[in-house]
Amino acid sequence: MSKSKPATQLKAETKTNTHKIIAKQDLASNIKQIQVLAPEIAQKAKAGQFVILRVHEDSERIPLTLVTWDNDGTITLIFQEVGYSTIELGKLTVGDEILNIAGPLGKPSEIKNYGKVAVVCGGVGTAAAYPIAKALKEAGSTVISIIGARNQQLLLLEEEMAKVSDEFFISTDDGSKGHKGFVSDVLKTLIDKNYGFATVYAIGPPIMMKVASDVTRPYKIKTIVSLNPIMVDGMGMCGACRVAVANQTKFACVDGPEFDAHQVDFKELMQRLKGYVPEEKSIIQHLNPLGGKCTCHQH
Ligand code: FAD
Ligand code: FES
Ligand code: MG
Repeated sequence: MSKSKPATQLKAETKTNTHKIIAKQDLASNIKQIQVLAPEIAQKAKAGQFVILRVHEDSERIPLTLVTWDNDGTITLIFQEVGYSTIELGKLTVGDEILNIAGPLGKPSEIKNYGKVAVVCGGVGTAAAYPIAKALKEAGSTVISIIGARNQQLLLLEEEMAKVSDEFFISTDDGSKGHKGFVSDVLKTLIDKNYGFATVYAIGPPIMMKVASDVTRPYKIKTIVSLNPIMVDGMGMCGACRVAVANQTKFACVDGPEFDAHQVDFKELMQRLKGYVPEEKSIIQHLNPLGGKCTCHQH
């Protein structure tokens, strides 16, 4: 482990005690939204970027996408409680402070008028897709959004996504709302109906992004995914977030998080995401010592 921290990291981390939570909302079971004071980040943020935060001194660093940012110096984050750190974050309430937040990180999305764009998103990926859909619409693109979740209760940002979309579709795995099945089924149907998408954005769990990119490949539609590998420093130095794209190693935190979906090695991404599951499971048992079972539905 190196003794000195990079200057950029030090700069971000010295900004302690300023990141007060000013609003908090439960969006769905285990999915929370917080609005946090972070003026320096709010001032610079662009669609597609993220932050890395630490809840307190002993916490690990977790990346979360910037959902909104405002002139009042606040940012909005939406997170699913899937493990120790996101559950720790979920315990904070209005008035509490997050120890530090580094950002904005990652390359912003390439926002322009693409013509017709499909924004396909699943689960908490909808939170990451929303600012991109909004910016694409503002840039003049025709935005066709397809949002999905396991069931109706887990659908996120329905109203917000509908507002920034020219057409808006819902799909749920159990059919409780909209199409019964996957967002990729709806995407395929629209492509076959000659929607003529110039570009597709697919953002969500890796398997969803892989399937969406398998759908668009035969049609040669440019497809962009926002990858979510494990990240630690977020500065391109630790190598934790390496992904294989076009047979080259890329660091998602600085080269991404967006990449050409048809060039991404999703198998490797999914394998690497499972790299610390035994440790993650064991630490979650500290939170729930009686049952020893995580309640996040992902383990
Ligand atoms: P753990 O039990 O430690 O891990 C659960 C699973 O989360 C792991 O198996 C692994 O697949 C993944 N994970 C664990 N640690 C990390 C890490 N340091 N970095 C990335 N993934 C990790 N989630 C949201 O809910 N909302 C978001 O807006 C969001 N944006 C993201 C943006 C980026 C660029 C990336 C890379 C990830 C994003 N995530 C987002 C995923 C989020 O960072 C993880 O769910 C979180 O770090 C899990 O931490 P944990 O300790 O609660 O869970
Ligand atoms: Fe360390 Fe990307 S998170 S190189
Ligand atoms: Mg963790």
